[in-house]
Amino acid sequence: MDNFFSIRTVTWEGDAVRMIDQSALPIKLTYVRYTRSEQIADAIRSMVVRGAPAIGVAAAMGLALAAARSRTTRLPDFMKEMEAAASLLRGTRPTAVNLFWGIDRVMSVAASASTVQSAREAVSSEVKAMEEEDFQVNKRLGRNGADLIKNGDTVLTQCNAGALATVGYGTALGVVRAAVEQGKLVKVLVPETRPALQGARLTAFELVRDRIACTLISDTAVGLMMSRGRVDCAIVGADRITKDGYVFNKIGTYQEAVLAKRHGIPFYPAAPRSSFDLERTYDRVTIEERGAEEVVEIRGRRIAPKGIPVANPAFDMTPPELVTAMITDRGLVKPPYDENIARLIA
Ligand code: MRU
Repeated sequence: MDNFFSIRTVTWEGDAVRMIDQSALPIKLTYVRYTRSEQIADAIRSMVVRGAPAIGVAAAMGLALAAARSRTTRLPDFMKEMEAAASLLRGTRPTAVNLFWGIDRVMSVAASASTVQSAREAVSSEVKAMEEEDFQVNKRLGRNGADLIKNGDTVLTQCNAGALATVGYGTALGVVRAAVEQGKLVKVLVPETRPALQGARLTAFELVRDRIACTLISDTAVGLMMSRGRVDCAIVGADRITKDGYVFNKIGTYQEAVLAKRHGIPFYPAAPRSSFDLERTYDRVTIEERGAEEVVEIRGRRIAPKGIPVANPAFDMTPPELVTAMITDRGLVKPPYDENIARLIA
């Protein structure tokens, strides 16, 4: 089973970035090709590419495009252009720390070069390495978490923390894939994940494509499913895990965690090193507020009266006391999280 969802979400082609247009899924599997950093910024903002690790790598590649297109031969001017592109990309989405991790990593590679040409080459090889690394890190993370899933288990997830949210293989769904690779029968319960429907559109798409058993539910069915014994564990992704162990992830994750505690069900966020924010505590994180149209419309069709006030927070925050363990590429992180994040992740 080595060819699980073998297509890559984001790839570096040397002078262009190729990515799956996730806004068209599951109706059409199409690719877009971008040659300018501004196009990458638009793609991140409009969620043509989404998912914390995927936007981290995409933003890094956006900077590599800025480097490739620069016409200057003076290093200080080159760095000014790179800073401008970095600032545009930093402003796209505030919550996933991977975005800033990807940008900082490329900027520090550029800053240590001694000529424009060597900076361009170093940045280009760095983003190719990041693409490959993301895939390998997710495979490792998947293996580290697979033993938490028993044969016959049903795993509840949230949003899409799969191959489409990464370069490939996925984080939460990477753990499921690794358990299936071990020969276990695993079923995934997929909440639709209003308002942008990443569960119904993307998680369902990749699981069906990989022939992994799954059932789509409405977000509001989670509590009932748990109370009926239909969930063995919850595995979700993370956009940012702060140094004090708070997990920021797609809106709806917190209520899953609360319900999991109520029903004695283990709750596991799965995240690579690049999703950890070792500088901040929970109170210094911005939760993205997205446009009202995502809530008053479903796929372009109006469902609420005109003029209704709307709140649309895209992420929520799960406190450490609701987390059973964190699955990472460095192994399992268990409580107390502040100590163990510092020990295992830093
Ligand atoms: O708004 P999105 O679709 O970018 O949100 C994605 C999530 O919340 C994922 O769970 C998270 O990025 C982890 S993906 C491995």
